[in-house]
Amino acid sequence: MAEDIYLDNHATTAVDPRVVEAMLPTMLSEYANAGSITHQPGRRAAQRIQEHKEQMLYLLGAQHAELIFTSGATESINLALFGIALHPRQKRRTVLVGKIDHKAVLDCARKLSKQGLNVQTIDLVKNQPADLLPCVGIYDLEALGEQLTDDVAIVSLILGNNEIGSLQDMRPIAELCHQHGAILHLDATQAIGKIPFDAQAVGADLVSFSAHKFYGPKGVGGLLICNDTIQLSPVIVGGGQQNNLRSGTLNTAGIVGMARALEISVAQLDAELPMVYSLRDRLWQKLKTRIDGLKLNGPDWKTLPPSDPTVLQRLPGNLNVRFPNVDGQSLMLKVPSLAVSSGSACTSAEPAPSHVLIGIGLSQDQARSSLRFGIGRFNTETQIDQAADRIVSAYAELLHFVA
Ligand SMILES: Cc1ncc(COP(=O)(O)O)c(C=O)c1O
Repeated sequence: MAEDIYLDNHATTAVDPRVVEAMLPTMLSEYANAGSITHQPGRRAAQRIQEHKEQMLYLLGAQHAELIFTSGATESINLALFGIALHPRQKRRTVLVGKIDHKAVLDCARKLSKQGLNVQTIDLVKNQPADLLPCVGIYDLEALGEQLTDDVAIVSLILGNNEIGSLQDMRPIAELCHQHGAILHLDATQAIGKIPFDAQAVGADLVSFSAHKFYGPKGVGGLLICNDTIQLSPVIVGGGQQNNLRSGTLNTAGIVGMARALEISVAQLDAELPMVYSLRDRLWQKLKTRIDGLKLNGPDWKTLPPSDPTVLQRLPGNLNVRFPNVDGQSLMLKVPSLAVSSGSACTSAEPAPSHVLIGIGLSQDQARSSLRFGIGRFNTETQIDQAADRIVSAYAELLHFVA
């Protein structure tokens, strides 16, 4: 049986062994409830959480922000969108969300719409001429400017797209939102730990993320609140933890692990980003030269990583391609040893083609013939070469079958 090759690092990443090492002592001996501050072990747990919160705020360029610990990005996004839009003192009734954002955002928006809010989607920049499709997945600032009225409560946009890797230039978007008194929520789930991130420089008000996307444990994430005038309603109520904004016993070991994972990611970003970028390029070159008519979905890149990573237009480890005359799902099933995806992890069980690929202008068939590769910290050149070989031969077999 062929050895597994994991190229699904957008769905989740392996926990870095250094993270496990940091979590173990907390799990074994610091198990007290951080809410039990009447005794010493509880106070120690609370202290441990506070230290790691401050470390994370520093690493995210958000020293003056608040960080609410959650179970992951989905919960953070729910808290951001419902928390702002449904706050009892919220007068504004419009919510704007990105057309190719993650389902977690789009489903919250759908629910808000059912509750009577005016929900609109933000469109993408069109190619010139405008009917030249697909486009690369960058949000249209001009169109957003027209949608932004003084009725907009919150704008939610994805920073790094989980399917096609497109990266948005958020600073001008934040400025535009603030000119209109709207709050900007950033879904930075795929970007944090993968590209340089500084919350203050970006100017977002709320930022969602999950630890398991940057080699931390599953089941823990955060919502940064970078603007202290924000009024947020809780979504989860109960014990009143975290200033009543998110009840529930804090996951001490998870938080310690998440902080350690972020620390490692930030510390080795300068070395890891070009490494992952080059592996992605290697895979693309190896597939492109051997499969006639293979097409890239999402933004293009130069072969060499840029010396200034802030100019990146695509997540370094993301590759999304469409195969001529072959269904992506069938191709994927033909190489089960290769962990790749035919859509986002949360939607890959759905038979419908990806809303992101349709959103950039692909036909249903083109979307169905696409695969997403997510390259990460633990991949090697040998794995990339083997992955390319397996895809190329599976593709040739399927094509033969189709013909
Ligand atoms: C961009 C983006 N946002 C949100 C999420 C949801 O994250 P989680 O499943 O960790 O809650 C994901 C996960 O795939 C994602 O890629």
